[in-house]
Amino acid sequence: MKIRAAVLEEFAKPLIVREVELSEPGPGEVLVRLVACGVCHTDLYTASGVDPSGYAPTVLGHEGAGVVERCGEGVSLVREGDHVVTLFSPQCGECVHCLSPLTNLCLAIREQQNQGYLPDGTTRLALDGEPLRHFMGTSTFAQYTVMPQIALARIDPEAPLDRACLFACGLSTGLGAAMKTAQVRAGSTCVVFGAGMVGLGAVAGCRLQGAERIVCVDLAPERLVLARGQGATDVISGGPEAVEQILEMTGGFGADYTFEATGNVAVMRQAVESARMGWGLCTVCGVAGRGETLDVVPRLLITGRRICGSSFGGLKGREDVPELVNRYMAGEIDVDPFISHRLSLDEVNVGFELMQAQDGIRSVIEFA
Ligand SMILES: NC(=O)c1ccc[n+]([C@@H]2O[C@H](COP(=O)([O-])OP(=O)(O)OC[C@H]3O[C@@H](n4cnc5c(N)ncnc54)[C@H](O)[C@@H]3O)[C@@H](O)[C@H]2O)c1
Ligand SMILES: [Zn+2]
Ligand SMILES: [Zn+2]
Repeated sequence: MKIRAAVLEEFAKPLIVREVELSEPGPGEVLVRLVACGVCHTDLYTASGVDPSGYAPTVLGHEGAGVVERCGEGVSLVREGDHVVTLFSPQCGECVHCLSPLTNLCLAIREQQNQGYLPDGTTRLALDGEPLRHFMGTSTFAQYTVMPQIALARIDPEAPLDRACLFACGLSTGLGAAMKTAQVRAGSTCVVFGAGMVGLGAVAGCRLQGAERIVCVDLAPERLVLARGQGATDVISGGPEAVEQILEMTGGFGADYTFEATGNVAVMRQAVESARMGWGLCTVCGVAGRGETLDVVPRLLITGRRICGSSFGGLKGREDVPELVNRYMAGEIDVDPFISHRLSLDEVNVGFELMQAQDGIRSVIEFA
């Protein structure tokens, strides 16, 4: 079928919204009609050409939500009409990582996905008769997409899809970092560095876990206002003094849990230094630039601080994303303040401009 999609034809150039060809879903694959899709930094990062693993041409987009239109042979996990959130981090349920409760890094389709192919090593997309590669296994800046069934989370059909799409990436990443990776304990003190989509999600996750004190650190005052709305009890302005301020606020010890959601390695270091001696756990969510390293004084670790990283919040997507959407539907997560702009697919490049100007948290593309 012919569909409209936003194609990255050349790095560092605007995306071009045009007609591309999408073939029918193969075995184990599903055709999804997109209803909404968030615009995320990872899309821009790839579009800019800075990502060393990026490729072009491709159809970008990975924060999608939509409706199952048609199922390929042998599909058993979803049915026509199901409402789904797309998962760049799938859950096959069978690989050694899926079988372990300790990680969410499913191994089933990693290699093919990273190269832009569906699990059988081919693509369903074509541009002017030439195969066109998928992006993050999702390619959701498009009216329709074909994805493996293991990469779709079936959600409550009552959930509005323009909000649900945020659970496909940033929001779930932050929520999961607090709830799944760090498993924040009730009554604890938490510090979150960064109040973008990921950091604000982490603030909300700490609140849902029953944290007593949640300090959010950011450079932008308007984002700190949003952090308060998600449950931050204290907010401070980022900068070289942040660690000292946090130590002062915590009787000289630091926080039980710290989270980094900026992508800046100097801030990652601050997050480690703000964690409490004895048991403080620092969870790194940000993606650092190519070749950058994290500089930490080892003594901080010997005296009981720990560092861990979190990909997609440690969430096993098919199981955990529907659960988070349920908590949103129960009124426990306030999603509306994250949606700053609503755009049409043709305005996708405006979404990139708004993000570069740090105007709002998320632009959501709505498909007519
Ligand atoms: N681990 C994952 O699976 C995953 C998933 C999505 C995004 N990410 C990464 O998480 C990071 C955050 O993503 P986002 O969408 O929230 O980004 P964002 O750019 O919207 O937010 C980053 C925030 O950090 C703040 N900041 C910058 N310097 C600071 C400083 N010195 N002190 C305190 N705050 C500072 C900025 O003001 C901004 O509000 C990015 O690196 C992104 O690539 C990781
Ligand atoms: Zn994303
Ligand atoms: Zn797996």
